Amino acid sequence: MLQATPQEDKTRDDGQKKASLDAWVTHYQSYAAKGQNASYIPALEHINSSQLGICIAEPNGTIIHSGDWEVPFTLQSISKVISFMAACLGCGISYVLERVDVEPTGDAFNSITRLEMHKPGKPFNPMINAGAITVSSLLPGKSPQQKLEVLYSLIEKLIGKRPTINEEVFQSEWKTAHRNRALAHYLKETGFLESEVEEALEVYLKQCSIEVNTKDIALIGLVLALDGYHPIRKEQILPKEIARLTKALMLTCGMYNASGKFAAFVGVPAKSGVSGGIMALAPSSTRRVLPLQGEFGIGIYGPAIDEYGNSLAGGMLLQQIAQEWDLNIF
Ligand code: DON
Repeated sequence: MLQATPQEDKTRDDGQKKASLDAWVTHYQSYAAKGQNASYIPALEHINSSQLGICIAEPNGTIIHSGDWEVPFTLQSISKVISFMAACLGCGISYVLERVDVEPTGDAFNSITRLEMHKPGKPFNPMINAGAITVSSLLPGKSPQQKLEVLYSLIEKLIGKRPTINEEVFQSEWKTAHRNRALAHYLKETGFLESEVEEALEVYLKQCSIEVNTKDIALIGLVLALDGYHPIRKEQILPKEIARLTKALMLTCGMYNASGKFAAFVGVPAKSGVSGGIMALAPSSTRRVLPLQGEFGIGIYGPAIDEYGNSLAGGMLLQQIAQEWDLNIF
């Protein structure tokens, strides 16, 4: 019998992975009806909530996708991961951690309560709004434009294209960001914010409005899975320490007050946003069952979210993949 060539083996394996993703996307799409689009950002309310898409990025350049993988959506809270990495790159890890802690809260992402309860009001972690607004103010640069430029160039390095902002989503949030303004004023008063309130908010809300698709966030997940090494650029674009710290924060705080459940029942570092994106990653493991033993990044989009602010069908899809492909890091 003729032996299959390595290329034929790869094509068959990729076909099987794609067939599995297609079946799971079709199955979990029906669960989207149990969630709702984020309505507190008016521009997100009218998006088709039954969409579900996924993309997987592997170090050898293989991209496997399914469903609504190419639909653009705004980063929202997934941007907190990127601004944290950019701030650590620009000012150093210890400078950033003097201003924002690395402890999960168990509270909603926009909660205000702990800031005053725990003196001196240092935000608990960079994945809640208080921490993320603080981090945005730490980005190198004097003006919001300069700070955003630092973020855009890191994103450009990560995904290979210059990001653009969804102006409608930005305006929609800018006009309704009363709680974020309250958080920023409190942080300014306690000395954690390093720019003016309106400037920090402009950076924060513009970074939330950056448009991506599932392939873009799968690529960022892949670079994190590889401890900061970009396999397409063949370049270490983040120090290993920053990549590892970021992954620890994703695992402990990335899915808001569902992070514990997520770590327990899915078991991979992941970060969600209220527009329905989930950026996740799998490290390599030879103990894992096939089809994927190497590192890979995962991007998911499903705009209907649950009570915690995480994509409902997207979270279920990720749980299915983690179970079937044995991704749990524990
Ligand atoms: O600050 C906000 O309200 C949003 N721009 C981002 C929040 C977010 O994505 C929370 N996610 N689950």
